[in-house]
Amino acid sequence: MSGIVVGKAKEIPVGGRVIIVPFRGRAGIGIFNVNGRFYALRNICPHKRGPLCTGEVAGRSSIHAPPSATDGFVGYEREGEIIRCPWHAWQFDIATGQCLVDPDVRVKTYPIIVDGDDLIVDVDVNDFVKER
Ligand code: FES
Repeated sequence: MSGIVVGKAKEIPVGGRVIIVPFRGRAGIGIFNVNGRFYALRNICPHKRGPLCTGEVAGRSSIHAPPSATDGFVGYEREGEIIRCPWHAWQFDIATGQCLVDPDVRVKTYPIIVDGDDLIVDVDVNDFVKER
């Protein structure tokens, strides 16, 4: 795998993130530590190009039965696995980039490996050239 070293794993604790800009003038890539696993997402929301990776990391509400059957109880699941865009609150699965609002939408993800303590992201420069 080709790639660039974007930082040290020990610098991003569980639940943490950093946004790196590997090429000047670009929106960058968000690197997330979700329960000890690292993920990389393009920092551009596919909805209206908001700075997705600066949004709130949280979980999501879950309803597995009609509210009348659960006394109105709404569950909460996947804490720390979902990012919410700061512009219009669309939610995305950090691990897969899948949008939870629209199943046809996905934010670009990048392969990331931990080599010793180095975090290496496989970045295709052409992905960023398209952002102009
Ligand atoms: S720009 Fe991200 S939800 Fe609209």
